[in-house]
Amino acid sequence: MKVLGIETSCDETGIAIYDTNNGLLADQLYSQVELHAQYGGVFPEIASRDHIKKIVPLIRQACVDANITLQDLDGIAYTAGPGLIGALLVGSSVGCSLAWALDLPAIEVHHMEGHLLAPLLDDEKPEFPFVCLLVSGGHSMLVDVKAMGNYTILGDTLDDAAGEAFDKTAKLLGLGYPGGKVLSELAVQGDKNRFKFPRPMLNRPGLDFSFSGLKTAVRITWMRETEQENYCKETDRQQLVKDIAASFQEAIVDTLAKKCQRAIKQTGYKTLVIAGGVSANTQLRSRLRQLENKLRIKFYCPAFKYCTDNGAMIALAGAMRLLREQNYNNKIKAYPRWNLEELTL
Ligand code: KG4
Ligand code: ZN
Repeated sequence: MKVLGIETSCDETGIAIYDTNNGLLADQLYSQVELHAQYGGVFPEIASRDHIKKIVPLIRQACVDANITLQDLDGIAYTAGPGLIGALLVGSSVGCSLAWALDLPAIEVHHMEGHLLAPLLDDEKPEFPFVCLLVSGGHSMLVDVKAMGNYTILGDTLDDAAGEAFDKTAKLLGLGYPGGKVLSELAVQGDKNRFKFPRPMLNRPGLDFSFSGLKTAVRITWMRETEQENYCKETDRQQLVKDIAASFQEAIVDTLAKKCQRAIKQTGYKTLVIAGGVSANTQLRSRLRQLENKLRIKFYCPAFKYCTDNGAMIALAGAMRLLREQNYNNKIKAYPRWNLEELTL
């Protein structure tokens, strides 16, 4: 079964073709990051307009890459939410229109389910059940994944998502938008012990997260340190940025790793998975990998390119759902908010 996956929930147009027999046949991605950088965040109307420009050429290119025509497809999967409504509507209306024209099923995919299943694109796949740490620009969740479509949220963020905390801190340090990746690259050259930032909610039971206090602590430190005279020297200032980046990253990684450990103990599961944009963070990946020996578990993370938004994870999730033969009415669906726990199979 060959499924076309369409991802347009935010600022990436992702188009892929997944074949349930032969794996990924095509994977096209266009990032709008440069378009939004000047606004310091995603500008929703510009995002929708750009998806409209890119979506059809990318679908054509994906078919060329896969060496198939649209008539060879068996289904269309599109991200129906959560995300920006205008951006979602581009993917869902193009997806459903293609499905009507080709007389195929169109299947709506939950963006976070796409992230959560992205590690299954790898040759070495996690087996159900597992604990998934889903950390992206909009979400930070610990999920009990019993099976596909059977999700219980064990912990959620009370304020900022992990990626949002990375991006806001990066912005404060003058690293542009979205700065999570840049911040983590600078952190490698910094001293993670120079500042001791709070590890939010670790002293309380439970698996929820909160990152706004950490963000404030970083802001206060930044203001205090940059007021001091010795930062007139540019080299000192650059080192300060690196040290704050390293200390901030350490606080986030420490918090996420300890909550993962708790979730594993709570569920008794033997498999831990991370997914979402922040799962590209090398420090987080290596810290969680250490849990393999410590807790005698298996740890899985997606390939770097499938951590952040992409069409491949949507094509895969759609294909897995279509294989289970649901009835689809091919109505255009777009949900800005959509609780992962509402999903069934
Ligand atoms: O999953 P994603 O592409 O989009 C959402 O669904 O939100 O995640 C994007 C987020 C951004 O906040 C970005 O800064 C963050 O993932 N991110 C990182 C890294 N790469 C991307 N955060 C920390 N370290 C990274 N290496
Ligand atoms: Zn995402």
